[in-house]
Amino acid sequence: MIRAVNESRISRFYVAVAIIFGTSTLIISACQTTPPADPPTLIERGEQIFLNETFAGNGRTCGSCHRPTDNFGLTAAFVATLPEDDPLFVAETNPDLATNFENPILMRELALILENQDGFGDLENNFNMRGIPHTLALNTSIDSRDGARTGWSGDGAPGDGSLRSFATGAVIQHFTKSTKRIAGVDFRLPTDDELDALEAFQLSLGRQEDLELPLPLQGIVAARGQEIFMDNTLGKCNVCHFNAGANGNPAILGPNAGNLNFDTGVENLPDQPADLTGELVPPDDGFGSPGNGEFNTPPLVEAADTGPFFHNNSVETIEGSVAFYNGDTFTNSPAGQLLINATGSAINLDATQVVAVAAFLRVINALENIRSNIDLLDRAMRAMDTSNGPTDSLFDRALHDTDDASQVLTGGGLHPEAAARLEAAANFIRQAKSTTDLELRARYVSDAISEQRAARNNLSSPKPVEGVHVGDTDE
Ligand code: HEC
Ligand code: HEC
Repeated sequence: MIRAVNESRISRFYVAVAIIFGTSTLIISACQTTPPADPPTLIERGEQIFLNETFAGNGRTCGSCHRPTDNFGLTAAFVATLPEDDPLFVAETNPDLATNFENPILMRELALILENQDGFGDLENNFNMRGIPHTLALNTSIDSRDGARTGWSGDGAPGDGSLRSFATGAVIQHFTKSTKRIAGVDFRLPTDDELDALEAFQLSLGRQEDLELPLPLQGIVAARGQEIFMDNTLGKCNVCHFNAGANGNPAILGPNAGNLNFDTGVENLPDQPADLTGELVPPDDGFGSPGNGEFNTPPLVEAADTGPFFHNNSVETIEGSVAFYNGDTFTNSPAGQLLINATGSAINLDATQVVAVAAFLRVINALENIRSNIDLLDRAMRAMDTSNGPTDSLFDRALHDTDDASQVLTGGGLHPEAAARLEAAANFIRQAKSTTDLELRARYVSDAISEQRAARNNLSSPKPVEGVHVGDTDE
């Protein structure tokens, strides 16, 4: 944002030059001079590193798995669209990585990635197959009273578990040219500056604060779902996913509970897709090494459009992942027993209630997508005034998140009016991206923003429900 301001100052400088020396000077100076712009911000440098830096490794970047147009995660549907030479597939193309690095069948069918959370000592037998989590809302979801909790088991990072250490761990795990993993030979380690930039960029992604439930939802089913979610004698979700985020309810789990780990029994689910493939999938022991069976609580606002669900992508649908909490596997798990002790009963929702809770999760996900879209489109609008103009990647992300929002609603038979508005918004974004006429482009972006707002008002009472955001003050 700071950069956008500077760029607009620079473009005005060119205009001034052009007025004095004529338009040809403008064109020549705009083409020849790299503007003496301020250096990019820490967040901007972090974005470049996240998306482009290979750390002298096998060609992958952080963005190979955390895709900006797949919610900074990666689904099997997205994997299927990638060309054969995408660095994601190094295990298929680089003989040094053919064994004990990835399982290409599980990667392609279920978007599962091989991780050696318990160390690189026994590569053949000691590994986990995990889904790729989004890196959104990290600013709200990794602090706990016991320190940082990153990754599905809260111990994904070497050392102190922080986001900074996580990047180092990811390079050693995923970027290596061979399974010997020798730093300086198979990859280089990120520098302190790079770690700072990566951290700043990742913390800037997505939601910056938790919701405050209850929201004034318009849909009767989603509103009922919200009540069930928050009812500590019925859905009990709010005990662990306080305000539909990743932190424990302070009134029940203690002040400053933060982002907690639980053994909810997901590992014990019968008929998990990965097991059905017949591929070797060792049990995942969760937090610590050896592990204690616990996994880290993920935020739910971002969940509905980032399935499959849980650490091992074992449940495909959001309805299924709500229903998980009714089953024997959860009830008999340590967390299930803890909940029975604390509240007197197990979770026992009927079909209509499962669907209502899922409808709630779908609607808050659509609202978050809309918040993020308006922010991205605002940024595109501001960039319109600069020499570079808005980048295609800004439009691509807004388009993807708009499609996600409408699919998340239609997938649950919810809010056809809002879904139609979102589809209209998507069309405006496509038109804005494809035209070179700047005036027209600004009009399309502004129309796209109006449609997003109309969609939002259809989901929730027209007053701000998702926190303050820049440039969106006309309501
Ligand atoms: C080959 C795919 C792949 C690549 C490349 C990759 N990641 Fe990940 N990422 C994963 C998987 C799988 C997990 C889950 C790991 C776990 O549970 O410990 C993950 C988890 C994360 C998390 C934890 C998110 C949370 O909610 O706690 C962060 C942060 C992260 N990655 C950042 C990075 C960064 C930074 C890079 C580049 C240096 C990177 N990743 C490269 C696959 C990848
Ligand atoms: C005892 C704490 C606890 C309670 C109660 C709880 N959850 Fe969870 N939830 C977790 C943990 C821990 C995970 C991660 C489990 C894993 O990946 O193995 C999780 C994961 C999820 C996921 C998957 C998110 C993703 O991105 O993959 C969904 C959806 C979910 N919970 C919804 C709910 C709903 C709905 C309720 C209430 C019916 C609920 N949870 C109650 C702790 C809890």
